[in-house]
Amino acid sequence: MCGIVGYIGKQAAASVLLDGLRRLEYRGYDSAGISIRNGEGFQTLKRTGRVQDLYQEAMRAPDAGTIGISHTRWATHGGVTNQNAHPHLSHDGRLSLVHNGVIENYGLIKRELIGKGVEFESETDSETLVNLIALLYAAELQDPVNEGKPREALMKALRAALAQVEGTYGIALLCADMPDLLFGARKGSPLVIGVGNGENFLASDVTAFAGRTQNVVYLDDGQLAVLSQEDFSVTTLDEVAISPVVDTISWDIEDAELGSYTHFMQKEIFEQPMALENAMRGRFSQDGSTAQFGGLNIEPRELRQVDRILFLGCGTAWHACLVAEYLIEKFARIPVEVEYSSEFRYRNAPLEKNTLVFTLSQSGETIDTLEAQREAQRKGYRVLGITNVVGSTIARENDGGIYQHSGPEIGVASTKAFTAQCHIAAMLGLYFGRMRDMSYSDGCTMVSALRKAPGLIAQALSQAEKIEAIAKKYARFEDFLFLGRQLMFPIALEGALKLKEISYIHAEGYPAAEMKHGPIALISPECPTVAIALKGEIYKKSLANIQEIKARRGPVIAITDAGKEFPQDLADEVIHLPETHEVNHAVLVSVPMQLLSYYIAVERACDVDKPRNLAKSVTVE
Ligand code: G6P
Repeated sequence: MCGIVGYIGKQAAASVLLDGLRRLEYRGYDSAGISIRNGEGFQTLKRTGRVQDLYQEAMRAPDAGTIGISHTRWATHGGVTNQNAHPHLSHDGRLSLVHNGVIENYGLIKRELIGKGVEFESETDSETLVNLIALLYAAELQDPVNEGKPREALMKALRAALAQVEGTYGIALLCADMPDLLFGARKGSPLVIGVGNGENFLASDVTAFAGRTQNVVYLDDGQLAVLSQEDFSVTTLDEVAISPVVDTISWDIEDAELGSYTHFMQKEIFEQPMALENAMRGRFSQDGSTAQFGGLNIEPRELRQVDRILFLGCGTAWHACLVAEYLIEKFARIPVEVEYSSEFRYRNAPLEKNTLVFTLSQSGETIDTLEAQREAQRKGYRVLGITNVVGSTIARENDGGIYQHSGPEIGVASTKAFTAQCHIAAMLGLYFGRMRDMSYSDGCTMVSALRKAPGLIAQALSQAEKIEAIAKKYARFEDFLFLGRQLMFPIALEGALKLKEISYIHAEGYPAAEMKHGPIALISPECPTVAIALKGEIYKKSLANIQEIKARRGPVIAITDAGKEFPQDLADEVIHLPETHEVNHAVLVSVPMQLLSYYIAVERACDVDKPRNLAKSVTVE
């Protein structure tokens, strides 16, 4: 939520920053801005709208300055206006700041600053922060101990200001007095340093400098950074020097570019066979009877003591938690609970002693999941994470976990990260199951089934044209129902969420049998239903549910693996999937759901990768 890019180097900062902002735009896209250190002050350009609009304006008279900061905004405090866009300059024009996060006590601080004669131009909490720093900096400059030491004075001011503010921040700051330094700090909002050759970067995430450097330092909460062209240093708020660890990013620029695709969501849907391959790589035992995970940091003996598992996540990741619940309970017979991270963190839920907690998060930065993880850790529970973004805060703070290795997911609506999470959930079901009652041969059967998932997904993807035609036919409807039972219930929820997110169609997911307890009232020729009917124990019941819809003249798009067995005239459209082990059902059925939503959104001319009001990484509560 909100993207920050700062640059200091030898190149013209404007194009480097705008290029980075373009790649961070999924973090927020209601306005964007840039400040370049220039002459005695800053050249600042900011406006509502997309990064592309800012780019065109900035490139009309590009500034040659080689140090700058930039921001793409997702509004929290203050409406979407040019004034509220970042960067924010301090009242004395000395500082320019971009901020991601929320300063909760900004009202109080702002009143105090107004009392001291500071005038404000925007409604944002961020402008309060920059003015507070500026005032403290001016006072420090007056102190004889700081004479001729603007860097020391600014660091003192920064520390004092950050100690006063409550809330969260990731900031990048320029000072007119120091044309060769870039300052940053974080608490609760991510910030990383890209370590280049004769140039350095400060950004909300590594995609901002992909293609320019592979070397990254992940800052922790309570850390401040000072960057110059050739160097950087990190200290804590209490002035303790940190020896930063420089990590290497494992993917390259192509992974974060569109290539031949029209949208990132489309690209990411089609990348799913590879994403699942990556999720499985090296994760089956040599005898092919179980899964293995290198980063759990727990002895199998300890894992056998686990009596209950709690999964926490938000949005699509929460749906993956529900998939994990079903698969682990079924294959490992361990009771599993699922909670929204945001509810768990404030609920003070009683947890049993031998509970193992898992947090699921693609970005690894979702604030509610991060705080839920911290709360569980404070209570003394061991927390493992399933995350995609290496080095993300959730991944660094948990006690161990599993990286998805899905590659960067840029489209705001999650696709490949979701199916990778579901696949890892299935592998966990196998792993825990084999520690308990699952036999060697059942384990082998499951491993060979899981290995088939990428091929099955490729078969589902080969129906893209057919699904596109169905999407065109149904794109005009304003209400949809998605029905699935058992393991397919979370997939129905996820199908409905995808459609809502990217095409703004009202959609609800239900377990099919619950339809009779309310949602059936919605059925009409104007409300299509996407119904999942897979072979197995409840196949006939699912068909009966579809009959009930047809009897009320509701259009039905059925997704089935029953082939010719599926009654010919039961549904208006039938999407056939190959039959497979239940362990692959979640990932396989997700694919036509994703394609349907994608093509409907395209048909409705929606902005697929940047749906209105949403942001990919939600780092504010
Ligand atoms: C946002 C995104 C969703 C995502 C959710 C959780 O709402 O728009 O696509 O599922 O956050 O994100 P996480 O990174 O924690 O998986």
